[in-house]
This record gives sequence, C-alpha cells and structure tokens, in this order.
Amino acid sequence: MSQRVPIAAEHVLHHFLGISRALAGRLDFQSMIEAVSEEIRFILPHDHLDVSLLLDDDHHLSAYETGLHTAWSDFAIHPLEIARSPIRSLLLGVEPYILSDDAMVDERFQFPGALNTPIFDARLRSRLHVPLRARGEVIGALSCSTHLAHFYTLDDVRHTQHVADLLASYLYALRQTEQAKQLAIAEAQIRAREEGLRLGVLRLTQELENERQRIGMDLHDQTLADMTRLHRRLARLQLQDSVPATELAPVAQALHESMQELRLIIDAVKPTILQLFGFVEGLEDLLLRSVRNSGLAIVTQLRDDTDGLANDLAEPQKIALFRIIQEAVNNAIKHAVPHAIIVEITATASDLCLTILDDGLGLDSASRLETGGIKNMQIRAQLLSAQVHIDKGRNGKGTCVQVCLPLPAPL
Ligand SMILES: Nc1ncnc2c1ncn2[C@@H]1O[C@H](COP(=O)(O)OP(=O)(O)O)[C@@H](O)[C@H]1O
Ligand SMILES: [Mg+2]
Repeated sequence: MSQRVPIAAEHVLHHFLGISRALAGRLDFQSMIEAVSEEIRFILPHDHLDVSLLLDDDHHLSAYETGLHTAWSDFAIHPLEIARSPIRSLLLGVEPYILSDDAMVDERFQFPGALNTPIFDARLRSRLHVPLRARGEVIGALSCSTHLAHFYTLDDVRHTQHVADLLASYLYALRQTEQAKQLAIAEAQIRAREEGLRLGVLRLTQELENERQRIGMDLHDQTLADMTRLHRRLARLQLQDSVPATELAPVAQALHESMQELRLIIDAVKPTILQLFGFVEGLEDLLLRSVRNSGLAIVTQLRDDTDGLANDLAEPQKIALFRIIQEAVNNAIKHAVPHAIIVEITATASDLCLTILDDGLGLDSASRLETGGIKNMQIRAQLLSAQVHIDKGRNGKGTCVQVCLPLPAPL
C-alpha cells in the first residue's frame, strides 16, 4: 500500500484554489491540462495525467495528456472510438470511478480491441480515473497514473473527483466555445467560397463584355474604316469608262449592305446608353433603335413596375440581362413579324423578372433552340443564376421570353 503522508485539509483547499486560479484564462485544452497538472501534483502525485472528452457523436473521444507523451496524444487530433478506450465502463457511466493498483496486470483494461498499449509503453501501474460531469452527464474522464504500483487510495479518488468537478464545467464551456468557433469558421468558409464564385462569375461577365466592346471598337476603327475606303475606291472606279457600270454596281451594293450590317453589330456591342443613363433608358433606346433599323412598323412598349430596381444591380448583371433582352427583341423582329413587342420589368419578393412578348408567328417545331442566340441567352442567364423560360405569348399568340434573376434576401 501507499506510504504517503496524508495531506492536511487546509492544504488540499489551498491547492483547489490554486487549480481554480490556474484554470482562469486558459483557452485551449492542452494549456489548461498542463496548468492543472502542476497544481494537482501537490494533492495527487502523478507521472501522467490525461483528460478524455466525449465528442458530440456519442461514439468517440478526444484525449489530452501531460507528463509523459504516449499514443493517447494522437487522440487529440484523431478521435478514438469509446468502445476501444480501456476506461469505457467509466465513460459510459457504468462505473462511478476506476482505481487500479497495477494497470499492467488489471484485466479490466484488457479486452479485445482495447487501446491499452500506452499503459505498457509508459509503464503506468497505479491508475485512478474519475468522471467529468457537466449538466448531470458524463462528458469525459480525468485520469492520473504513476509508475509505482499500489499508490492511490480511496481518499485520492475523492480528491480527484473534487478536482474533476471543478474542471468539468471549464472543460464543458471550452468545448462549447471550440465547437461554436469551428462552426463559425466552417460557415465563413462556405460563405467566402460562394461569394468568391459569385464574384468570379461577375468578373468573367465583365471581362467578356470588355472583350466584346474591344472587338466592337476594332471593327469600327479598322474594318469599317477599311470598308469605307474600299467603297470610295469603287465609287471612283464607277466613274471611269473602262469598267462597265453593270459589273461594279452589284459589288458596290453588296459592300454597302455589309457596311450597314457591320454598323448594326458595332451598335449592338456598345450599350453606351445603358452605361450612361441606366437600365430602363437603355432598354427603351434598344427597342426604338431595333425597330427603326428593321424598317418594319412595329409598336413597342416598355413597362417597369419595379421603380428602377434593375438599376441597382451590379454592372455585369445589368449588361448580361440587357444582352438577353437584346437577343429576344432581335428574334421577335427577325422571326416573328409581330405588330407589337412589349418588354415588362416586374419583381416578386425573391426575383426580378424581365418579360419580352411579341404577338407574331410564334416558335414552330422546326425552330432550333439548342444553338445560336437562344442558347447564348441561357448561358448568360446561368452565369447569373437566373432562369430563362420561353413559351407561347399571351392568348397563345406569338412568343413570351421571360428571364428571372433571384434577388438577394433583404437584411
Ligand atoms: N420571337 C420569335 N418568334 C418566332 N420564332 C422565333 C422567335 N425567337 C426565336 N425563334 C425561332 O427560334 C430559332 C432559334 O433562335 P436563335 O437561337 O436566336 O437563333 P437565330 O436567331 O440565329 O435563328 C429561330 O431561328 C426561330 O426559328
Ligand atoms: Mg437569334
């Protein structure tokens, strides 16, 4: 049996207070355990001290140790199954404490699958284990061990239990804080990823648009200028008698038409009105210009029921929506032969919707929707997380294209 001199009650109390003081301000398990180990040593001499903490899944535990370094340290990072812990009966609430005079021969620690190698590696003989309880439940265990056999007594069990009761609420609070912190980090990471993705898409849209405008400018400054020069040379040739006018006239006409088309393309890639004035004004201009250029008698109407909500969108979003509407309006003019084209802007609590209606011929079964302009509309919408629906128009006549953009939830 132990030959230790019993420690006086007032000294025990003094060290309990010391443990309390050592705990204050400790914000991680390891430093908490090291501080406690130093203070507890006076009441309870030990060569090894460890704390096991049950995890929320009810099947695993983490372990933190001080004194000697054993394989149990790994369980601070890689949790161990409770079923493999040598003190599982205590952790599961079956035993009120475990006191072993010689753990190296104690059959309680030896069962199939038991992770008991640290006992032998570190030659831990006397062992004493008491539960850590918080809110009436076992949340883990405090364990002390020495190399000497027959060292601890029932008095030690009582003292250790007091220390464990003191520690438990600190450990519980620390674990809750730790979990809340992990959760907050995980949430922040998800938010950052989503935001990064969203910003990436917006930046990509902006870059595509910049590129498009650059091509538009090159076409204007280079190609259109070249074509204009060619046109002038042709006009001069037409004045000379050596070349028959009948041969040159169709060439000059074809060139003139190509230049007209090129101007339209250049116009389309430069939504200057959109950038200078705003989304609704840009749309108004688009409708009027497209119809005027078509030379067709089409009535247009633009209705904004949202009080200019679209103007508050990010620039790349506005541009992408503008391009989608531009294609829908062009399709209506090109394919539908309509009397009227109506563009409506509406909003629900969750979405901003843009609807382009025509009262023309409508889509037919031969319409190819997988390539070309409509496909582009869908890709642009996807990049914005918006949806495009294409259907028959009002009263089954013509075509209705609707694009709905989810709005951020109000704060
Ligand atoms: N508003 C519309 N009215 C009638 N048909 C349409 C309309 N919009 C599109 N279509 C049909 O859908 C086809 C695919 O459109 P789109 O992908 O924009 O290609 P493109 O305009 O180059 O032909 C068109 O060729 C046309 O047959
Ligand atoms: Mg088209």
